[in-house]
Amino acid sequence: MKPVDTSQCLCHILVCVNRRQDSPLPSCAGADADAEPVFETFRSWLTDRNLLARIWLTRTQCMGWCHVDGTTVAFYPADELEPIWYRAVNKEDCHTLIERHLKPLIRSTPQS
Ligand code: FES
Repeated sequence: MKPVDTSQCLCHILVCVNRRQDSPLPSCAGADADAEPVFETFRSWLTDRNLLARIWLTRTQCMGWCHVDGTTVAFYPADELEPIWYRAVNKEDCHTLIERHLKPLIRSTPQS
């Protein structure tokens, strides 16, 4: 076992892209949900700014907060003790989340 060096990580974003098959339960990548566009919006924003090494983005399976109207997204900022979770996130919400959680991180942190 070897520890992972997280010293350069500003935040870890988890996006549920779970799609249930043959189930009446909602899922984040279900018929009307935006999981893939949500993930892609974050990925594109980070890629365009060359930030994927500093803001980690991970696709997940069910995180337990499924909603018929959207996707579960969790932010784990490195400098905060408490994670920030959202459910029912849609593609239009991504820009609000970027303004709220990501832009302040990159403004306040020197680039290395
Ligand atoms: S399917 Fe995404 S949180 Fe459950």
